[in-house]
Amino acid sequence: MKSVLFSRFFILLPWILIVIIMLDVDTRRPAPPLTPRPYFSPYAVGRGGARLPFRRGGPDIGPRRGWEKRNESRPQPRPRPEPPLPTIYAITPTYSRPVQKAELTRLANTFRQVAQLHWILVEDAAARSELVSRFLARAGLPSTHLHVPTPRRYKRPGLPRATEQRNAGLAWLRQRHQHQRAESGVLFFADDDNTYSLELFQEMRTTRKVSVWPVGLVGGRRYERPLVENGKVVGWYTGWRADRPFAIDMAGFAVSLQVILSNPKAVFKRRGSQPGMQESDFLKQITTVEELEPKASNCTKVLVWHTRTEKVNLANEPKYRLDTVRIEV
Ligand SMILES: *[C@@H]1O[C@H](CO)[C@@H](O)[C@H](O)[C@H]1NC(C)=O
Ligand SMILES: *[C@@H]1O[C@H](CO)[C@@H](O)[C@H](O)[C@H]1NC(C)=O
Repeated sequence: MKSVLFSRFFILLPWILIVIIMLDVDTRRPAPPLTPRPYFSPYAVGRGGARLPFRRGGPDIGPRRGWEKRNESRPQPRPRPEPPLPTIYAITPTYSRPVQKAELTRLANTFRQVAQLHWILVEDAAARSELVSRFLARAGLPSTHLHVPTPRRYKRPGLPRATEQRNAGLAWLRQRHQHQRAESGVLFFADDDNTYSLELFQEMRTTRKVSVWPVGLVGGRRYERPLVENGKVVGWYTGWRADRPFAIDMAGFAVSLQVILSNPKAVFKRRGSQPGMQESDFLKQITTVEELEPKASNCTKVLVWHTRTEKVNLANEPKYRLDTVRIEV
């Protein structure tokens, strides 16, 4: 009996040793560097956000699976140094309401996937709210938190909204870059109720002056878009006042940082601005229709949607006793 056990043991021993040696070799490989991760980011590939797989070639970016494929004698080719990506600045006006945090969460989940994006969140409030401050602190995104209240006299239906907040974002950008004009960047207005395809960011990043693209679910139509002939914008397919100089939604254009800096007076106007003319009044100050750069395959693809969250029904709130704990929604 004993000798059978012994012979089994000696048959197994070499195999056990082989397994131990293989495990040991594996753990001696240099571990991937531990980078500080933003709060949510078990899913994000890096601080700057995941790269879309088709934007760059190069080595794979996922975590490696140990010793399966690695060939030590052939070092990984070093990625060529690339010029820094232009920063995308997203200016988002926001205001307190029951769905605010849900909307901001959706937006942050998109922006976190975009490399080199800086989020400028501007609250319509006399002070920064705790909800938004806490939210941004945990959002894992480079961001700036501003606030400016809309004067009471402008809070009427039919008047343009978020004018002061967009201008505060523009002012911050101009101040930040007044001494360092070299950085390349692109700015767009990302209202917190829109939905963005990640492809849109690839498109807008190459904006030289002002770029335009279609917007879905807007103007009472399935989409609106700039009409393009021979690579130039020649008119507008829209649901409303095609005679506007720029018949385009706030979500339908991006502006290069250089254009914003070299037109320091270009802002959104209250005075003399008719409803629905915000975009035209602003774009008139910085560009012409002939200069516009059509994106999204000559404006034939919808990559942003003007989704609107349904007004929430809170009718039962007053009917019941409040919860004993206070929960932020
Ligand atoms: C490792 O790379 C070298 C050099 O390219 C090659 O000759 C060798 O066959 C590779 N070994 C394996 C196990 O892939
Ligand atoms: C846009 O149209 C121009 C002129 O017709 C053409 O040269 C260009 O390749 C088109 N661009 C795309 C992305 O389809």
